[in-house]
Amino acid sequence: MEKLIDRLSAVVAEAFSAAGYDPACGRVTVSNRPDLCEFQCNGAMPAAKQHHKAPLVIAQDVVDRLQDGSVFASAEAVKPGFINLRVQPAYLAAHLEQMRQSERLGVTGERKPRGVVLDYGGPNVAKPLHIGHLRSAIIGESIKRIYRYFGDNVVGDIHLGDWGLQIGLIIAELERRKPDLPYFDESFTGPYPEEAPFTISELEEIYPTASARSKEDEPFAARAHEITFAVQQRRPGYYALWRHIMQVSVADLRKNYDNLNVSFDVWKGESDAQPYIPPMLEKLKAEGVLVESEGALVVPVAEEGDRKELPPCILVKSDGATLYATTDLATIVQRMEDYHPDKLLYLTDKRQSLHFEQVFRTARKGHLVPPETELQHIGFGTMNGKDGKPFKTRAGGVMRLETLIADIVTYVTDKIRENQTVPEDELDATARCIAIAALKYGDLSNLATKDYIFDLERFAAFEGNTGPYLLYTIVRIKSILNRCGGEGDWAMAPADSESAKALQLELAQMPDALQMAYRDSAPNVICAYAYELAGAVNRFYHETRILAEPDKQKQAGYLALIRLARRALEECIDLLGFSAPDRM
Ligand code: ARG
Repeated sequence: MEKLIDRLSAVVAEAFSAAGYDPACGRVTVSNRPDLCEFQCNGAMPAAKQHHKAPLVIAQDVVDRLQDGSVFASAEAVKPGFINLRVQPAYLAAHLEQMRQSERLGVTGERKPRGVVLDYGGPNVAKPLHIGHLRSAIIGESIKRIYRYFGDNVVGDIHLGDWGLQIGLIIAELERRKPDLPYFDESFTGPYPEEAPFTISELEEIYPTASARSKEDEPFAARAHEITFAVQQRRPGYYALWRHIMQVSVADLRKNYDNLNVSFDVWKGESDAQPYIPPMLEKLKAEGVLVESEGALVVPVAEEGDRKELPPCILVKSDGATLYATTDLATIVQRMEDYHPDKLLYLTDKRQSLHFEQVFRTARKGHLVPPETELQHIGFGTMNGKDGKPFKTRAGGVMRLETLIADIVTYVTDKIRENQTVPEDELDATARCIAIAALKYGDLSNLATKDYIFDLERFAAFEGNTGPYLLYTIVRIKSILNRCGGEGDWAMAPADSESAKALQLELAQMPDALQMAYRDSAPNVICAYAYELAGAVNRFYHETRILAEPDKQKQAGYLALIRLARRALEECIDLLGFSAPDRM
């Protein structure tokens, strides 16, 4: 269905045309002076240049044709040539009634759906998920939902860090501790026991220990390198251990991402890209872009006009080892083969921007992707503590995601217990729901590229620009609707107060907000919209006696309005990746 702003623009364009002016000047925008009007059109200024007339005369000619009251309650020309508009309540209500009857509140896409591969995981197996992985999961999950909402076919790939030295370190440490395991026997060929010879907590303890040991124990470090190489050659015993590490680690990762309401369609990893490396290097050689430099194989990616120096992309070191960029390029080849996407989107910390710049340029120069395939990296800022430094535990260590979530849940549980609104058996689920909203909204409401400060009290507050405030607004609407029998077929009615009209106008803007969020891959736009909408709901609620309204028809209009607001808010938070409880 057409957006309100487009409908109004069409009416004003028609008036421009009827008055003998260019209809392209009839574009209407939401007023930036809500005290004066709801919408405005500044087209008389450009029309004045075209037609060599005073803008005010043109504006007056146009508003003279907008006086029949069917669309605009008022249309005025003001100096120097602005057109100030207020929409007719009945017209607005009819528009919202259409929104109410449309399955997706009138939101439609603006372009042909795309195939997208979204890379927003990047956890490293055998290492606990930490805060660094949090932002990519939260932002990526939301972008995935937004893209899908507009019809894109999105494959979310976790892209596990499951290859490389960390595996060698773990196995070397296991070899020290449990040398009798059959896997270390040169002649091991199986069978592969189901059960892993370690638990997830052991695994998480082994890695840091091994990593520390490798820094002081030269032979141990050498052994870890040897083992890494042997795993990559798939020596059966080591390979079996690698699979155990994967299994234990992936089970734990799944649990953690589930808790965050984040999911992936594909659980591939760096290891899956390895077979694509040799043919990719051949292709880059054949394209003439891969050259030797001091024994290494590199692709020079600097271009004329670069504002900063771009070092060559190193793909094979002089000792034959491949690097992070090599794997990412091979992964591009694999993804092109598997999905033929129109777009590849990566979400990582912005400190990886140079890496992606090099990788993308190499992919272009080597024709690993067709020219029309879009390659984009969104580099996000850091989540900091109140001291402005990257978020740490109280003891100064790396904060685990699990711990962070548990801390927020505890805080929220105490809060809702005080309010005594939630029965004891719903307490935990409700607290979790609110905690995730607090965490995700706190993150997503910022521009992704900016650093932000994690502030528990502020993020978890029920008032203010927070996730819990949105939930609170939804819960409030749910409770009113329930007290009115919930499911009446209430139709939209013309607004009979300022606050009702403001809420209706806010609702009519939802498609614009979602389209902008989609266009810019920017969940923060949805946050800002949902916050405004919740504000309009609460102002309406405070100024209107909804439950006590004796006129049943009037009351039905109010109920239709808040029910539509509830749908809109729920749609928004779903796109942000969280949901509302029934009580809080
Ligand atoms: N595993 C990497 C890390 O922890 C992140 C991977 C991001 N994705 C990618 N395709 N490079 O830093």
